[in-house]
Amino acid sequence: MKITVIGAGYVGLVTAACFADLGNEVMCVEKVSSKLEKLCRGISPIYEPGLDEMLQKNIKEGRIHFTDKIEEGVNFSDVIFICVGTPQSESGKADLSQVEEAARQIATYMDRYKLIIEKSTVPVNTHKWVKKTVKRYAKNDIEFDVASNPEFLREGSAIYDFMNPDRIVVGVESEKAKQIFQQLYKPFTDKGYPLLITTPQAAELIKHASNSFLAMKISYINMVADLCEKVGADINEVADGMGYDKRIGRAFLNAGLGYGGSCFPKDVKAFVKIAEDNGIDFSLLKEVEKINQRRREKVIELIEDILWINKDKNIAIWGLAFKPDTDDIREAPSIDIVKSLSQTGANLRLYDPKAMDNYKQLFPESDNLKYVDDKYDAVKDADILVIITEWKEFKEADLSRVKSLMRLPIIVDGRNIYDPKSVRDLGFEYYSIGRP
Ligand SMILES: NC(=O)c1ccc[n+]([C@@H]2O[C@H](COP(=O)([O-])OP(=O)(O)OC[C@H]3O[C@@H](n4cnc5c(N)ncnc54)[C@H](O)[C@@H]3O)[C@@H](O)[C@H]2O)c1
Repeated sequence: MKITVIGAGYVGLVTAACFADLGNEVMCVEKVSSKLEKLCRGISPIYEPGLDEMLQKNIKEGRIHFTDKIEEGVNFSDVIFICVGTPQSESGKADLSQVEEAARQIATYMDRYKLIIEKSTVPVNTHKWVKKTVKRYAKNDIEFDVASNPEFLREGSAIYDFMNPDRIVVGVESEKAKQIFQQLYKPFTDKGYPLLITTPQAAELIKHASNSFLAMKISYINMVADLCEKVGADINEVADGMGYDKRIGRAFLNAGLGYGGSCFPKDVKAFVKIAEDNGIDFSLLKEVEKINQRRREKVIELIEDILWINKDKNIAIWGLAFKPDTDDIREAPSIDIVKSLSQTGANLRLYDPKAMDNYKQLFPESDNLKYVDDKYDAVKDADILVIITEWKEFKEADLSRVKSLMRLPIIVDGRNIYDPKSVRDLGFEYYSIGRP
């Protein structure tokens, strides 16, 4: 099939690359010229394992093309995925200006039937606005459908998740749209992946309800972790015991510094706002947000409790990305932590395997904030090592070497990546989350 994707970010680019890899011909429209220039050379502007290779293969085989001309994208195919950003606005509501712009652009150039698909995460009933907008701005009375097909991929394993979905959700209003989706997702349904066909409003709700639920699990386990610290239990044992229960499941029961990223924080906020706009006080989710914010403050307080005075102390930070295997730092817990620590007069040495370039835009180097290219470099003469993101290379670090490089052997492990006993046996003063 021929497919158009508008927006080459984490979702759009992965969607485009994966559909191309499945044998479709894809035109990807990206308006930022610096990104487009890279894409045309087969270089992904974002870090996502396997994405560069997939792009290069499909560019070479002529199945994926890039343009900044929306007209070219709209003419290219009858199936158009909107994958633009839906960031949080001041009020907590989703800012839908990019979606609205894409809808207007499609309307302006469409000259035959189009299936317009919201893949971006949008509030319930956004499809109605997209429909209205396309109708208003279309030059002629052309038939079109608007459908919702939310994306559930996780950054860091985006290609795997796209190709092996737990479920595919499509919200449609017409038989024609349903049939196009059935054809498009046939390679998936042939393999047994469930294709759930719903109304557009249910599909839109499924995305926000799912992300909010996962965020709730994280905040829940973090509160249990706090209790574990008080009563001398180990949160991992508790989470394992809970997780074996099929009704609960072990995923998203890892205590730590809480959630971040481009999705959970904004999606929970947006869901609270959607509920509010419909006269419902989703107080449960408001509490989820509060608990999550408190995780960051708690670790800042812990560091000060350990060091007494942060001023002039050397603090090594391992991990800046909001989670491993991505360079995405949007709403990363590290941001609040680094910001707060840098204001205390401490000297920070930051290291992340992939996110440092993005981070430098937010926190430029200064006298007391330095970036280093190696995790061992970060801990040289450090009074404390703070682990914020659970990258594999941190789990596999040579801790004896770390200890020999540090001024004081103190670790605050915000992600519980080490076994407390082994680390303490090496002579570290070790603090983790929810473990005795
Ligand atoms: N990142 C994730 O893990 C993830 C997962 C599931 C769903 N989502 C949702 O998918 C949507 C996109 O997220 P993302 O992380 O990929 O965003 P992103 O900001 O990384 O990418 C959006 C891209 O769209 C481009 N764009 C915007 N308007 C355009 C236009 N009119 N024409 C051409 N290009 C345009 C931007 O330049 C940008 O490159 C959001 O709604 C998000 O909530 C994201």
